[in-house]
Amino acid sequence: MTDLQRATAAEAAGTEGTSLPAAANRHHEGGPGRTYASFGVVRALRQIRHAIRRRFFEPPDYQLLFDHSREAEARMTKALGRPVSDLDVLEIGPGQDLARAIFFGRSNRVTAFDHDVIAIGLDPGRYRQMLARNGLARCLKSAANEILIGHYARARLVRLLGLSSLPQPQFLVGDICSDAPPKNAFDLAMTWSAFEHFADPARALKNILASLRPGGLFYVSIHLWTCNNGHHDIRSFTGQADALPLWAHLRRSTQHLVRPSAYLNRWRLQQWRELFSQMCPGHTEILDQYEHPEVLGPRIDANLARELADYGREELLTVNAVFIGTKSKYQR
Ligand SMILES: C[S@@+](CC[C@H](N)C(=O)[O-])C[C@H]1O[C@@H](n2cnc3c(N)ncnc32)[C@H](O)[C@@H]1O
Repeated sequence: MTDLQRATAAEAAGTEGTSLPAAANRHHEGGPGRTYASFGVVRALRQIRHAIRRRFFEPPDYQLLFDHSREAEARMTKALGRPVSDLDVLEIGPGQDLARAIFFGRSNRVTAFDHDVIAIGLDPGRYRQMLARNGLARCLKSAANEILIGHYARARLVRLLGLSSLPQPQFLVGDICSDAPPKNAFDLAMTWSAFEHFADPARALKNILASLRPGGLFYVSIHLWTCNNGHHDIRSFTGQADALPLWAHLRRSTQHLVRPSAYLNRWRLQQWRELFSQMCPGHTEILDQYEHPEVLGPRIDANLARELADYGREELLTVNAVFIGTKSKYQR
């Protein structure tokens, strides 16, 4: 499970207040830049401290990641009508730790497509490319992460999966909204917690569908903007969730406290539904709410409900909205 998903309801703290919905994207008003994330010194130090904690005191909880990956694999198997093995797989936005690319790479040929250059190890060639494309801050963050946790985490993943070596994905670098991956080349296109960062989700989905062979499957999991930590303030993912009030980004009284760490398109559940209904009729939708209804639901008191009146409980308590479907032979 990723840091995003691991930041559970239990970590969040409650607060009171009065007012209306608002937004929290001040650090990225101009849209996505050289890298999808932002890098303040304080934020970088917080992430480094978190990496040290994960390396020496709280090792990554891969059991949870495996449980969720197996659940996704079972959903894919059901939708495909065959096991997820021996497939050409495209993962969009795998992130630097490549955990799912490694999980699905056990028995498939995975291509990892990301806006940011991803380096396994401290490969000077990849770091030169990263510097040119994504800037010095991205390089320093990736190098620090690699030294502190990267190698250790990959070795642990390989051991826990019972593999003898690391499945090496192919890498493609680009913006999925404008740089189309190879067409008709993949049996499965999958992505987690990336669509909410895309400036043009319709173009991204069009490019993803075009990359699939007829009958190929897409599996799109979106970390909802409207969920409690949908703001992507790094504190929520580095053990300091209680520094922020519940749904702080959606409330006029608390939005000034939020510092998002990445560009977000702020799409609502209804917009995602309309997009997939228009472009992929016949798809399946699954809402992953985990423990949020039980843990956070009761904390929506009368004051909070008033402040969040523009949002339905479904979109407040859903962490990930998952859209699954196949490309028909008529889709291009
Ligand atoms: C929040 S991370 C998610 C990483 C991983 N999938 C996970 O679940 O932990 C978002 C990833 O999407 C990538 N990304 C953001 N915008 C993108 C774009 N327009 N095209 C391709 N990748 C993008 C980022 O570089 C990053 O690796």
